[in-house]
Amino acid sequence: MPQSETIKNYQILADKALDFWLPSEDIQPEHLHAAMRYSVLGDGKRIRPVLTYATGQALNVSLSSLDGPSSAVEMIHAYSLIHDDLPAMDDDDLRRGRLTCHKQFDEATAILAGDALQALAFYILAHDQAIHTRAENRLEMISVLAQASGSRGMAGGQAIDLASVGKDLNLAQLENMHIHKTGALIRSAVKMGALACPDITPDQLDKLDHYAKCIGLAFQVWDDVLDIEGDTEVIGKPQGSDIERGKPTYPKLLGLAGAKQTAQDLHDQAINCLSEFDERADTLRWIADYIVSRNK
Ligand code: IPE
Ligand code: IPE
Ligand code: MG
Ligand code: MG
Ligand code: MG
Repeated sequence: MPQSETIKNYQILADKALDFWLPSEDIQPEHLHAAMRYSVLGDGKRIRPVLTYATGQALNVSLSSLDGPSSAVEMIHAYSLIHDDLPAMDDDDLRRGRLTCHKQFDEATAILAGDALQALAFYILAHDQAIHTRAENRLEMISVLAQASGSRGMAGGQAIDLASVGKDLNLAQLENMHIHKTGALIRSAVKMGALACPDITPDQLDKLDHYAKCIGLAFQVWDDVLDIEGDTEVIGKPQGSDIERGKPTYPKLLGLAGAKQTAQDLHDQAINCLSEFDERADTLRWIADYIVSRNK
């Protein structure tokens, strides 16, 4: 199967699992459930769930064991986007090609939708009977996602981002911000896919984690590039938002060519981490290529 077909298949599986776990809009409180479904099921790339599936498949894990962790990480991601777009944060009106959650609904509903999605993510990891791995691996998944989401992960990175508006960060500070606000969740997507394998070795886990760290950082570097080079119609969010808000970014510090070179170097490092994996890791290799060449 060509890689593009494999990815499409994972995206379809991710959407089905998300739809399954999200409460129906007919259930009370309808407005909140509608906002959750609106934000999660919008036209996103599903890169984090795809990474969970691709990592698991590199280790021969069944797809049904991966539905839960892939849904969980996408729910945390969707919650982070809802809050990222709020007036108190990036104050953006467009997301995934349509109105942001707080514009389509209202601010209070957007805050609550984020809160509820975060809780649902952990419910899935704790409850999903289809995750067939060791009990200690499931517990580790919960711990990995919690750390990646919290003040030492995504939320912490967002705090650094907000505190950095209008400031000139040096390269180490910028890298630290990106590793936390975006890298941490991407890393958790890979780690949870690996933990779904009951007999994952510490060495395999280490290599996959290093791969994920590199592509996680590259992903945000490329997101910064798209803020300059992207087309609002294609990226589905307002191009130029970082510049308008005075956000420190890789292109701002290194220039566009420098930012692209950084992304490429991270890509190469990520590919090297997979050298001991066979062709079942080709989807992970394909994703690394995609991350530093995507137009959305
Ligand atoms: C956007 O993430 C926010 C960042 C962490 C850079 P994505 O580019 O994965 O957004 P969707 O899920 O495809 O909408
Ligand atoms: C968002 O970074 C990171 C998280 C949501 C955690 P950005 O603010 O750069 O994301 P976009 O560009 O709005 O998608
Ligand atoms: Mg932001
Ligand atoms: Mg933003
Ligand atoms: Mg951005």
